[in-house]
Amino acid sequence: MRRPLVAGNWKMNGTRSSVAALVDGIKAGIDGVTAEVVVCPAYVFLDQVRAALAGGPIGLGAQDVCDRDEGAFTGEVSGPMLAESGCNWVIVGHSERRQYYAESDALVAAKFAAARRAGLTPILCVGETLEEREAGRTEQVVERQLAAVAEHNGAAAFAEGVIAYEPVWAIGTGKTASPEQAQAVHAFVRDWLRARAGAAVAEAVRILYGGSVKGANAAELFAQPDIDGGLIGGASLKAEEFLTICRAAA
Ligand code: 13P
Repeated sequence: MRRPLVAGNWKMNGTRSSVAALVDGIKAGIDGVTAEVVVCPAYVFLDQVRAALAGGPIGLGAQDVCDRDEGAFTGEVSGPMLAESGCNWVIVGHSERRQYYAESDALVAAKFAAARRAGLTPILCVGETLEEREAGRTEQVVERQLAAVAEHNGAAAFAEGVIAYEPVWAIGTGKTASPEQAQAVHAFVRDWLRARAGAAVAEAVRILYGGSVKGANAAELFAQPDIDGGLIGGASLKAEEFLTICRAAA
């Protein structure tokens, strides 16, 4: 059985005081949540959030990682730095990184490797744009994004990561994929894993859905057989809403 996972991607939001309040609110309601829960604050808040979460069940992740481990890469943050800051998780290949910062499939694959070198669990984001979906290219795009990671890391490496299917058209738009639309892509991803990495890996890897998940729609998404939880943006910035989503992943 795959344990459900709910990860909050706080993106470039928060202040020291709002982050403190958000963590307190999530901690206060976490008892009884059976899903694994992770929060991903901006780099500058990692140490603060690590201290606030210490000893509790909530995991800590970063939103990105450099593909290199150290050196003259101004502005970048490495996997070893994240590990030392208390992270166990890191998002790689978020569509906002791919779109706004021109991250290629190859760079994302190298970041997946960097995360693993540092002992971090990569949460690999894949997903198509609206234009790609309307052109009937959803599976082709997702397959291309997965294949790049397999080429660089070997397909067996997926066993050490999590995949998040995030259709770009559903992120921050309020337009959630229907449970059926999401399930279809999740099943495609799992079939691809089965073919490339074998049945054991395919059955073990958690595939999260992301894109306008809210308290009100989480349960029906998470009820789909191949949806193992969510990667939550906007709704993860409100403690009660995030906890409602966490409780829906049982
Ligand atoms: P929203 O939940 O705000 O649509 O964002 C989803 C996302 O990008 C999570 O990584």
